[in-house]
Amino acid sequence: MKIKNIRCLSLLPLILWILVGLVCIGCAPPKSELVKIKPVTDGGYEPSKWGKVYPLEYESWLQTKDPRPVGKSKYKKGWDTDRIVYDKLSEFPYMALLFNGWGFGIEYNEPRGHYYMIIDQLEVDPARVKAGGVCLTCKTPYANKLAREGGKEFFKMPYLEAVNKIPKEHRKLGVACIDCHDNKTMALRVSRWTIEQGLRDLGKSKLSRQEMRSVVCAQCHVTYIVTKDAEMHSTGVIFPWKGSKWGDISIENIIKQINDDPSHLEWKQGVTSFKLGFIRHPEFEFYSRNSVHWKAGVACADCHMPYEMIEAAKITDHNVMSPLKNNMRACLPCHIEDAEELKSQVIAIQDRTISLMLRAGYQTAAAAKLFELAHQEQAKGKTLDKKLYNQAQKFYEEAFYRTVYLGAENSAGFHNPTEAGRIAGDAIAFASKSESLLRQILSRAGVNVPVEIKLELSKYLNNRGKKKLGFIARQEFRDPFGIEDKFFPEKNKGF
Ligand code: HEC
Ligand code: HEC
Ligand code: HEC
Ligand code: HEC
Repeated sequence: MKIKNIRCLSLLPLILWILVGLVCIGCAPPKSELVKIKPVTDGGYEPSKWGKVYPLEYESWLQTKDPRPVGKSKYKKGWDTDRIVYDKLSEFPYMALLFNGWGFGIEYNEPRGHYYMIIDQLEVDPARVKAGGVCLTCKTPYANKLAREGGKEFFKMPYLEAVNKIPKEHRKLGVACIDCHDNKTMALRVSRWTIEQGLRDLGKSKLSRQEMRSVVCAQCHVTYIVTKDAEMHSTGVIFPWKGSKWGDISIENIIKQINDDPSHLEWKQGVTSFKLGFIRHPEFEFYSRNSVHWKAGVACADCHMPYEMIEAAKITDHNVMSPLKNNMRACLPCHIEDAEELKSQVIAIQDRTISLMLRAGYQTAAAAKLFELAHQEQAKGKTLDKKLYNQAQKFYEEAFYRTVYLGAENSAGFHNPTEAGRIAGDAIAFASKSESLLRQILSRAGVNVPVEIKLELSKYLNNRGKKKLGFIARQEFRDPFGIEDKFFPEKNKGF
């Protein structure tokens, strides 16, 4: 990639002379004005009050309500002008098998604009908010207040009851000005105990302005654990960052944190009946782990909240969205390539990642089906080699968490392409190891394991939850390089 500012540096003297020339002949370009910072005296939860002082930022923040232009993004068709809600389980059918047993296996949609964060929770299948009040941690600006006042009772309280603790006029209000800004100085701030503890765990106390331009997003775009008591009631929410460092939160350490304590296991997988943890949207962890852009000092806001000129004012665009849906405007200040070329580079990275991710997902699903078979044979009286079985389970869980991590990360690999390749490769290796051990165990027990493993996906994909959701074939992502059928032919998937 060629970077503009490097090229600009060598051209700097020339540019300066041209500028001086322009000014001299009296045709200076219109001056852009940075926003003058004034305190928001009535700086509470209500964004329209902040909007009285900063109307332009407020207007752009409101636009997260609007559907995005259709046909711009290949893998993140969130909620565009076609108004189709994209079903992740139809996009990646192996997920329906792996997540069967709890809410994520019932309804799991692609993300849409910030405006919808609570609305989507109210509309999703109730199984997804079964954890209770704890689900509001990342969704309402009142989270800190509610957790402080309600404590453990708040976390396990039924979801709708918890929503009713929010003042009526703000029950649908998602991320607000107060979540990211100090009302007196307008400096960036974080507003949740989870990120504060997370940063302490990373040993990070001082944050530069540029770092804050990522950390405000890391309040929510991170993975977390909902801790459980013996009755499986929610007791709190933590980021699994203990033992990690700033710029180095690895999948290995996240898995270690999950396995460290039984209270970190949140659900029971239907197919294997294993008690497992889970991984959610790890954008910050993934991006900050030595990616090229992170190393170059680029922040989340650089790509998702680019500067924008509105008449003479230069403001930060608060209509946070995919750079692809914004015609790559965010990339152009740094790169000399045109928008088309940059976009094709993004798609090339994503195609490779998705190909590997599909391989990892289906291989993990196949191992899960062999555990199901092993458990059926055991119930019929067959004895399984315990030591090998435990090993196979360990390998399986390693594969499972890596597969979930990749599927939950929202950039389809772009945020850190080489790390995506590493994680997918390991997932495939662990799942294959697990499968080969299970074949060994079963054949020792006298079971004839079929060469082709049938995934029976229609069982998991259709008739899901209250809405009776079903498989939408046209939303499925097939391997962009067309080699998936060599591993998992259609007939074995069982749609
Ligand atoms: C998700 C976090 C987030 C939310 C929510 C948010 N902002 Fe910002 N805001 C930012 C970031 C990041 C910047 C860039 C700050 C920097 O570069 O130091 C910014 C900058 C600003 C600035 C400085 C001038 C500019 O445009 O760069 C103002 C004023 C502002 N925001 C107002 C608001 C208002 C009003 C709201 C609510 C309607 C709001 N912000 C909501 C993250 C947020
Ligand atoms: C308070 C939590 C929170 C904060 C802070 C936050 N986000 Fe989000 N973000 C979400 C949630 C939740 C969604 C999904 C909303 C839905 O689908 O209902 C989302 C969705 C998105 C999307 C998809 C938007 C679309 O139109 O499809 C992008 C991009 C995004 N966030 C980037 C960021 C960036 C960059 C920052 C920091 C400047 C940030 N977010 C800060 C919670 C947050
Ligand atoms: C160098 C630019 C860049 C940086 C830095 C960056 N992103 Fe992204 N992000 C992208 C691109 C490109 C995509 C893929 C969008 C697509 O496929 O439509 C993306 C996708 C996303 C999505 C999904 C968008 C959607 O429409 O569903 C979210 C959420 C997100 N990024 C959050 C973050 C967060 C949080 C950070 C910082 C930890 C971050 N990004 C840093 C470029 C960037
Ligand atoms: C703030 C500046 C900045 C922004 C904004 C930015 N980039 Fe970059 N980009 C860089 C730098 C610096 C490098 C590293 C160049 C190098 O080391 O050769 C880079 C490298 C890349 C690479 C090569 C990375 C690799 O892993 O090989 C790609 C592809 C890329 N950028 C695409 C994008 C896209 C797409 C966007 C917008 C969504 C974007 N960049 C936004 C500064 C930026």
